[in-house]
Amino acid sequence: MQVGLKVWRFNSRSGERELQEFEISAPEEATLLDCLDIVKDKHDGTLAYRKSCRMMICGSCGMRMDGAAVLACKVRMYEIAEAGHVPVISAMGNLPIVKDLVVDMQPFWEKFKSVNPYLQPGYDEPPDGKEYRVKQERMNVIHKEALCINCGCCVSECNAMESDPDFLGPQALAKGMRFVGDPRDGAKLARLEKLNGEHGIWECTRCYFCNERCPKGVDPRDAIAKLGAESVMEGIDRDMGAKHAKWFVTSAKTTGWLRETELVPKTQGVVTAIKQTKFALGLAMKGKVPPPFPPHVAKNVQESRRLYDLVHEQGIAGYAGIVQGEHALAKLSHGNVQGESLEQIYDRPGSFSRPYLQDEEIPSGSEGGMGALNQADTTPGEEPTKMYGDNQPGEGAAK
Ligand code: SF4
Ligand code: SF4
Ligand code: FES
Repeated sequence: MQVGLKVWRFNSRSGERELQEFEISAPEEATLLDCLDIVKDKHDGTLAYRKSCRMMICGSCGMRMDGAAVLACKVRMYEIAEAGHVPVISAMGNLPIVKDLVVDMQPFWEKFKSVNPYLQPGYDEPPDGKEYRVKQERMNVIHKEALCINCGCCVSECNAMESDPDFLGPQALAKGMRFVGDPRDGAKLARLEKLNGEHGIWECTRCYFCNERCPKGVDPRDAIAKLGAESVMEGIDRDMGAKHAKWFVTSAKTTGWLRETELVPKTQGVVTAIKQTKFALGLAMKGKVPPPFPPHVAKNVQESRRLYDLVHEQGIAGYAGIVQGEHALAKLSHGNVQGESLEQIYDRPGSFSRPYLQDEEIPSGSEGGMGALNQADTTPGEEPTKMYGDNQPGEGAAK
């Protein structure tokens, strides 16, 4: 097939930029990365881009196609070429360009390192020859976050990072959640404190571009929501963003509506609210805000109150509630037969994994034992993990 590409070239020494067009012949199964390889091999050897695995694993080949971040080795070119479209390829956003499609990942790695992306276990070693086991349901909580390959596509499209380059950003925060939600980690509260600091979780504008662009389904915005919910549950709510979120919940629970008029005093305090009086009066005169008293109560307010009570009865406040919500949404997208219980839905072949609910019984057939620490009981497993080489020939890989 014939493929057209327009590539933004950049020379960091001279600062010159140039849009260069290429027309190449490529096999029908070619990806964008294959096409760039052909350009480099046969047309212009000076073109610079990163790659390694060519199979969506290493995270090296992040770049923009028509203004949106992609993994070049994931994008098939057949339909694009067939449609006669010539895509514009450029370097990722929010990171300094070194040359052509290569960006300087140093700021990315600095933020990555700042969230301590490694386990900090807070429990004693198990008795000799034993090990701690973690229930699958507990690890399901961080399944998506653990899929991150550090490609930077989410960072490239993050609105909040455009206005504050020091914002930790979707990748570092998703990595933060990966350890906050890990039952083996002993630094949960210290991590949450840090992630609630300046340039932390509450700077996210909830634009959802990171979810949209992540090539691995990590959904970093959802991870940030989990961190926010867990912070509030743990009483780490000093940030205005946390206060804002708490007021949303109170408002929905008490009236079924979002009472915007009370948002500023509840979030920013009375003094700030008084300073905004003139602005608020202006809005009121234009009919933009309803009078705060008496508060308007929705007809079916009991539904939102029941929802609130359910979350607390089931012990799914904090990130567990958001994981539950994610699964519920996934379930909806799979269709829901009238009267089908949640258990039946999770038991369907191909259904999403059942999320962890605090204080629940271990489901039959599930691994017994838990991770560790303040979030879980520490029960040593009966048998140590088999090491590679323990297997007899023909038994397959070590467990
Ligand atoms: S949702 Fe938040 S973290 Fe994700 S891209 Fe938007 S501002 Fe950035
Ligand atoms: S969260 Fe997704 S887009 Fe962001 S670095 Fe990880 S894999 Fe890439
Ligand atoms: S080359 Fe490794 S992810 Fe694309």
